Amino acid sequence: MSHKIAPSVLSADFGNLQRDIEMINQSEADWFHVDIMDGVFVPNISFGFPVLKALQKHAKKTLDVHLMIVNPDQYISTFAEAGANVLSVHIEACPHLHRSLQAIKQAGMKAGVAVNPHTNVNQLEDLMGDIDLICLMSVNPGFGGQKFIENTYRKIEQLKNMQNKHQVSFEIEIDGGVTIDNYKKLLDTGATVLVAGNTVFSSKNPLETIKLLKQ
Ligand code: DX5
Ligand code: ZN
Repeated sequence: MSHKIAPSVLSADFGNLQRDIEMINQSEADWFHVDIMDGVFVPNISFGFPVLKALQKHAKKTLDVHLMIVNPDQYISTFAEAGANVLSVHIEACPHLHRSLQAIKQAGMKAGVAVNPHTNVNQLEDLMGDIDLICLMSVNPGFGGQKFIENTYRKIEQLKNMQNKHQVSFEIEIDGGVTIDNYKKLLDTGATVLVAGNTVFSSKNPLETIKLLKQ
């Protein structure tokens, strides 16, 4: 199956958000990637429910919501109501990750786990069958437009090996520093979803850039 492209709304023009949402609607992109930051788990604050609800109203594609917040459990049902289709929590923010994943599924969403660059993916081995998506952070979370961390390729390979060993499947999403120069190698290594913020929104022709990333 072909890979998915998920433009990150974090890099959109918030003064023209509806215009940028329509651009993604009309593009070959598959998902909207939505970054929620609380200023505690990461050193930045992005946006919250009012913006997510505006997205829900206008976006015609899957909302892939990435929570960079502490205590995500308390907001799971609210994110479902606000339109999230895929909800990823950080392993580093969840002392009871199995419970968090069950709660996400019970709320009707796909369950994702995001993994910081320093976290070894073997920590997920006992939950392999419970996860719909693993979001490998290929930058330290908090900001768009950062440089890709090369060790991510090794982590993709580790996840592929774990999938084979346990005969399970889940999306392998790469988040941070995805560019026109590295996207092919990421796909060849085994990535199935590519998030792209800066690469899409700072390009002269975002529609063409998304088209290129889909090839
Ligand atoms: C970083 C966010 C990313 C970010 C990616 O904390 O999780 O989703 O928007 O931005 P780029 O593609 O610009 O690195
Ligand atoms: Zn993200």
